[in-house]
Amino acid sequence: MKVAVFASGNGSNFEALVKEKYNKIDICLLICDKKNAYVIERAKKYNIKTLVFTLKSYESKEAYEIDILNKLKEEKIDFILLAGYMKIIGHVLLDNYKDKIINIHPSLLPSFKGSNAIKDAYDYGVKVTGVTIHYVNNELDGGKIINQDVVYVKDLSLEDLENEIHKLEHKLYVKTVKDLLD
Ligand code: GRF
Repeated sequence: MKVAVFASGNGSNFEALVKEKYNKIDICLLICDKKNAYVIERAKKYNIKTLVFTLKSYESKEAYEIDILNKLKEEKIDFILLAGYMKIIGHVLLDNYKDKIINIHPSLLPSFKGSNAIKDAYDYGVKVTGVTIHYVNNELDGGKIINQDVVYVKDLSLEDLENEIHKLEHKLYVKTVKDLLD
């Protein structure tokens, strides 16, 4: 099974995923929407093919996704892992990869959706937060939950909490991908 990762930024989850050994899956493609994203450097290190698509250079989100879709088909990609991809997946990709796109989110969904989840949970004063892996549908952070695990906030600073969440993300994403696909 050939797997693509979509990422926009730092790429620590991407790196955790690609440095693992699998039996039946091959994580062989990075799709990135930001030409200067650090994740591209990480892909180079692991010799993973990278394709950059910039939404601004398309006349619509649909046209942008059709271009991505064509490349995914060309590369015979079966499954997509979102790892810090900062765009909502549109109907072109959803229709063509039904139940074959999953995402990682740094909170216990359905609490704290959106792009500031760790800080939002911290500022709210929750005692327990965590990480969710879920299928992607047309609602933001809304698809069926596959896996979750918790982090206790205790007296952690926001920075420490972010570090704990990211450590857990890397472990949980790899484990979930292995259990689900490998
Ligand atoms: C992670 O916290 C992930 O849950 C969220 O975006 C962040 C990406 O971090 N969707 P990185 O780029 O993998 O380091």
